Amino acid sequence: MLRDSFGRVATDLRVSLTDKCNLRCTYCMPPEGLDWLPNPQLLTAEEIVRLVTIGVERLGVTEVRYTGGEPLLRRELVDIVARTTALEPKPQVSLTTNGIGLARLAESLAGAGLDRVNVSLDTLDADTFKRLAHRDRHADVIAGLAAAAAAGLAPVKVNTVLMRGVNDQEAGPLLRWCLDQGYELRFIEQMPLDAQHGWSREDMVTADEILGLLSDSFDLAPDDQEDRGSAPAERFLVDGGPARVGVIGSVTRPFCGACDRVRLTADGQVRNCLFATEESDLKTAMRAGASDDELAERWVAAVARKRAGHGIDDPSFLQPARPMSAIGG
Ligand code: 5AD
Ligand code: SF4
Repeated sequence: MLRDSFGRVATDLRVSLTDKCNLRCTYCMPPEGLDWLPNPQLLTAEEIVRLVTIGVERLGVTEVRYTGGEPLLRRELVDIVARTTALEPKPQVSLTTNGIGLARLAESLAGAGLDRVNVSLDTLDADTFKRLAHRDRHADVIAGLAAAAAAGLAPVKVNTVLMRGVNDQEAGPLLRWCLDQGYELRFIEQMPLDAQHGWSREDMVTADEILGLLSDSFDLAPDDQEDRGSAPAERFLVDGGPARVGVIGSVTRPFCGACDRVRLTADGQVRNCLFATEESDLKTAMRAGASDDELAERWVAAVARKRAGHGIDDPSFLQPARPMSAIGG
């Protein structure tokens, strides 16, 4: 098992399939993009499946989430998903995507056994989208969401990051729209994970503020917290339910104490936390001929070193050297 020194057990594996992305969300990367990892450094589909298999078969991983960058840019995605859902015991398999290309791929992904998708959408307005993501692709995201729902990749979840003066006035309308479409909306506090290091606490729209904005138009009641477990989202029943909205207060309401996550970057590094400053290099070990046992051992050791929390509030906090797109969201 992947147990750390605080007794937390990692069962939820997030795998970044590529650091590349076809959007440039301001809270993630600069408009000109980043220096992408050179191809030889990326894990091959074969290598990804080997590591995921070790996680599932030997280390107690029960949930696999493919992310990026933008995972739909990875040509072997459907094959990787199919090989993951064929593992024993079968893990839950989901995808976090910006939705571009999902209209074309949702059906094949569902056919490969994918359970669910989370799609990032920060605005209902095409112009705001362009300003925020530096690409004119709003319609593609909306179409991707619809295709995911039609393909039965349910519940379709929508992730929104609110930014002051950019899209914070859309909190209510976004929730109304998601309720109408049957999507489950989750607001995520902006975290210091952008490549430009432009995050500031003052600009962050906090969980408290988000709840304040929503209660102008909706009646929110905390959902049964017993069910929360390790889920980062605090969930609220909207207007008596059954519809819900989630708020992920990563910064102001940290949930590190219940964290069950571990991450694998697109270049084969285990990270025990989004905010970890250390990684454990499984790729080099694997390419040097390490056995499954040896890889599992390194992975166990990497999780054992996990810190108690992200410490964003600590004066000594250091933003990780790699941005979200390289780590996997
Ligand atoms: N803070 C909060 N959320 C972020 N995401 C990307 N960068 C950040 C950040 N700095 C979100 C994306 C996506 C998910 C993977 O994380 O919008 O929904
Ligand atoms: Fe791409 Fe996601 Fe980063 Fe936006 S947040 S630029 S969609 S990787």
